[in-house]
Amino acid sequence: MLRKILITSALPYANGPIHLGHMVEYIQTDIWARFQRMQGHTCYYVCADDAHGTPIMLRARSEGITPESLIERVAAEHQQDFADFNIAFDNYHSTHSPENEALACQIYESLDKAGHIHQRTIKQMYDPEKEMFLPDRFIKGECPRCSAVDQYGDSCEACGATYSPTELKNAVSAISGAQPMEKDSLHYFFALGDFEDMLKDWTRGGHLQHEVSNKLGEWFEAGLRDWDISRDEPYFGFRIPGTENKYFYVWLDAPVGYMASFKNLCDKQGINFDEFWGSDSNAELYHFIGKDIIYFHALFWPSMLSGSGFRTPNAIFAHGFLTVDGQKMSKSRGTFIKARTYLDHLNPEYLRYYFAARMGAGVDDLDLNLEDFKDRVNSDLVGKVVNIASRCAGFIKKKFDGKLSEQCVEQTLYDYFVAAGDDIAGHYESREYGRAMREIMALADRANQYIDEKKPWVLSKEEGREQEVQDACSVGLNLFRVLVTYLKPVLPRLTEQSEAFLNVEPLQWDSISQPLTAHTINKFKPLMTRIDEEQIAAMLEDSKETISATEGNTMTSTTTDSGIDPIADEIQFDDFAKLDLRIARIVKAEHVEGADKLLQLTLDIGGETRNVFAGIKSAYSPEDLQGKLTVMVANLAPRKMRFGVSEGMVLAAGPGGKDLFVLHPDDGALPGMRVK
Ligand code: MSP
Ligand code: ZN
Repeated sequence: MLRKILITSALPYANGPIHLGHMVEYIQTDIWARFQRMQGHTCYYVCADDAHGTPIMLRARSEGITPESLIERVAAEHQQDFADFNIAFDNYHSTHSPENEALACQIYESLDKAGHIHQRTIKQMYDPEKEMFLPDRFIKGECPRCSAVDQYGDSCEACGATYSPTELKNAVSAISGAQPMEKDSLHYFFALGDFEDMLKDWTRGGHLQHEVSNKLGEWFEAGLRDWDISRDEPYFGFRIPGTENKYFYVWLDAPVGYMASFKNLCDKQGINFDEFWGSDSNAELYHFIGKDIIYFHALFWPSMLSGSGFRTPNAIFAHGFLTVDGQKMSKSRGTFIKARTYLDHLNPEYLRYYFAARMGAGVDDLDLNLEDFKDRVNSDLVGKVVNIASRCAGFIKKKFDGKLSEQCVEQTLYDYFVAAGDDIAGHYESREYGRAMREIMALADRANQYIDEKKPWVLSKEEGREQEVQDACSVGLNLFRVLVTYLKPVLPRLTEQSEAFLNVEPLQWDSISQPLTAHTINKFKPLMTRIDEEQIAAMLEDSKETISATEGNTMTSTTTDSGIDPIADEIQFDDFAKLDLRIARIVKAEHVEGADKLLQLTLDIGGETRNVFAGIKSAYSPEDLQGKLTVMVANLAPRKMRFGVSEGMVLAAGPGGKDLFVLHPDDGALPGMRVK
């Protein structure tokens, strides 16, 4: 039976670039969408940029542009990244769109009419300088429990405590540095509790992975609290109907963006919107999301939909988070890899395959182990799959004018390959891509084994055995065609090239029931090359945050001949707050061979030593420095220099040359002490 399916991925925020963590989700969803289309089902895959909220407003402000031009620029970048990874959206829209405003207001007004919206005055932290209410993440101070400095307004990264921003000690606004004050404001709330019965049924009704419904059980026990859906101006978002200056919180209109993007597609292509979203819809609706946003999708979203007369999703598919070499992505290790940086160095299909090979239907995290990534792609895709074609194609082209045998001489083997398709399809359908890839690779092994047994390269040298060569290679290429069909949802580009080489129409799941016989193929061009270690190294190097110092990691505030340097562009307090300045003891100082200005310093910052190359040779000889104290930037990303890796920067003052002061006498200040 042919199905009507609408699929979404979560909408990426418009204030940052797409990175490989995001790609886990878009690749997972795209594979599923492509698989469904190959089955002949009607399947739409839509997405959009999530364009609203305080961070986007502030980022635009700090760049000196309007939020509209920021989101326009980022949308173009996002879409280019997705296109280059072969993510085949049917539509990509924005939450800052007329369709979204109309639908968000419609949903809100229905909820309000049905009595699910309440108003209440609450106290909130306010920045008197910037004249705006501060989201928790924009308040910093000392943890009320452990006194760790520099903690956000909602939770402490040092001890894990959660609290309200009013409890922070010495709180400051991360935007202006001003001391925030409490201020009253009228807020609008969505009464989630009104939907408790509906949600209990829905979350236990087979729409969620079982780990997820267990988690929701805990949330039900904790009680469903009202959800604050309004924000005061200034805010980049939609004004709430019937108010002067209240805006929808970004998470209210974000999921509505799924509908809006689809609506936009419907209007362009004459698709019936209500057939997919009406309360009596018999189309299927699925949302792919990361595990961090389950609360929004499994509680708020179904209640918003059912409370406003729309259908609820068939399922929410949550996935885990990406780690790189077993650790959280890190800017200093170079493992915070942007989609664009990856694309600058590597073929997108490598990553699509690797993610597929490691992906299951659960919410476990997924590790990109770079060594394993290289080995697996090289051995599976290049060594097994592509190898089949490259071993057979030449003989057919050269000796038989590109023509396959009149009949398939290994019908049983061929049928065995075709029969495996049901199982593989089942794995795709249930998002067990890792299992699907394992079965496909087992078939690839079998095909290679067949060619090894037949040895066409030996037969071709023997008199009178041409027919056997043509037959064996024709079988090989027919098996290759089946494998490519099975890999098509994962490897669209390789498939396209293979379709051209095999001289066939776009492969569908059921187009392989019969082998190709007496069919002419085209010239074989290499379909995929091996990953070289160097490409990965270059990608990591490019991913390291770079700094601009020319020689040596010393930043000097020297005056120049003309007097005083102009003051650099103003930075915000949170830029300053990012600097971790520490007192360091110089435990060792050495000359660096071949460097005119550099000294190599070993710095002790209290239990941890750092290697830093500093351009201060003109002012000090190594003996003068040993045992003295200096101030260093301790959280600067390590930087590879000609002479080694520098792990921080030393601060110095003075006019330069001989007068460059980095030192404190050792007056008992402890290495490692924070100086700001
Ligand atoms: N804008 C919201 C989603 C709104 S949906 C109505 C958002 N945006 S996001 O850019 O932070 O994330 C987009 C998707 O990428 C989310 O599903 C998120 O879980 C996923 N991922 C972001 N970082 C990720 C990893 N490091 N690993 C795996 N998925 C990750 O959330
Ligand atoms: Zn704490």
